Amino acid sequence: MEGTQNRFIPGLEGVVASQTRLSHIDGKAGELYIGGFALEELAPNATFEEVVYLLQHDTLPNAGQLERFGRSLTPFRMIPSATTDLLARLAPHKVSVMDALRMGVDTLSVSSEGADAERDRRDAQIVLGGGPTIVASYWRMREGLDPVPPRDDLSHVGNYLYMLSGEDPGSARIRGMETYFNTVVDHGLNASTFTARVITSTQSDLISAVVGAIGALKGPLHGGAPGPALDMVYEIGTPEAAETYLRAKLDRGDRLMGFGHRVYKVRDPRADVLSDAAETMYRADGDLQLYDLARHVEKTAIALLEEYKPGRNLQTNVEYYTALLLHGLGFPVELFTPTFAVARTAGWLAHCFEQRAAARLIRPSSEYIGVVDRRWVPLTDRN
Ligand code: ACO
Repeated sequence: MEGTQNRFIPGLEGVVASQTRLSHIDGKAGELYIGGFALEELAPNATFEEVVYLLQHDTLPNAGQLERFGRSLTPFRMIPSATTDLLARLAPHKVSVMDALRMGVDTLSVSSEGADAERDRRDAQIVLGGGPTIVASYWRMREGLDPVPPRDDLSHVGNYLYMLSGEDPGSARIRGMETYFNTVVDHGLNASTFTARVITSTQSDLISAVVGAIGALKGPLHGGAPGPALDMVYEIGTPEAAETYLRAKLDRGDRLMGFGHRVYKVRDPRADVLSDAAETMYRADGDLQLYDLARHVEKTAIALLEEYKPGRNLQTNVEYYTALLLHGLGFPVELFTPTFAVARTAGWLAHCFEQRAAARLIRPSSEYIGVVDRRWVPLTDRN
């Protein structure tokens, strides 16, 4: 047994492994605070740049600070030619966008010059500015289209939408997307953020931390759920089919994607914010059919989860309405998780800065469950 604590806690559930001022989750009350603001107040009102500034500086910027901060990021929207070349090589093989993002981010910086604090600041700008360009460029290449160069007259989110479609996104779509980015920007010590903090704690660089975090995010139990959640709503097709479909899934022992959460035992507050944004989007488009179907599927799923898993309090999580909102914004399923990653990058980086300040290697213990009395047998004597 190593270490001083000897109680093994599967999945580290309930273990407090860091202190943060970035976000606060009350899983029982279903509340989320970002930089001290209730999510419902911050997400639909702030620009993404304001939220990133808030995470990095622990205060909202004034007009001048916001303008300077936004301007400081735009040069980093251009990615190195080595990155573009890599993406062009991956595209014919239809490598997934998340894997392309992971590999692309790794090539954004090869320099480790400068004092640590300076290098951290620069790495943060590089990865924050370059991430959206990697996703948008690669997506277009995979679709057989030319990448659209970034524009520096658009906001971070507006430019991301522009680079994907090559068209001016319009204020309603930018607002919808901005609300999404703000909603998912940070969320306590989730698996990808923990990964980023562990890597930073070894005094490795921030690019490596973000690459590791992307790898953690892409798993279906973390950021990979919204695609399957939308597929499920489409497969159900009509409200009448919901119960039979969902029962069959639960009878097989399958999990319903977009439901359940390690921390929230009531409805994930992010689901409400995104559901409102999705409703606005679908209403503006004049077609609420899919939205209404999703609401019905959600109601049925929650009732069935209570029947099949009584007392577990399995409720809707952020991924369910992420799927609906991003679909409403015209996003293909393949872009759901990469878009989550692009938004969450700001949270990861803010945690990296906190971890730097904490300056403590993260190194938990393990409980040995193997044997200790083996004796060496030469190869020639083994059966
Ligand atoms: N559908 C059906 N059953 C579920 C679901 C679900 N979505 N979620 C949990 N359960 C069941 C489990 O099978 C388990 O039942 P059992 O004890 O009878 O075996 C019980 O509820 C507890 O589940 P755990 O896996 O212990 O709960 P955990 O806290 O580890 O799970 C998780 C959280 C991984 C999110 C889980 O709810 C899940 O797999 N959900 C579906 C995937 C999903 O939506 N992921 C996105 C999460 S949000 C995010 O990461 C951004």
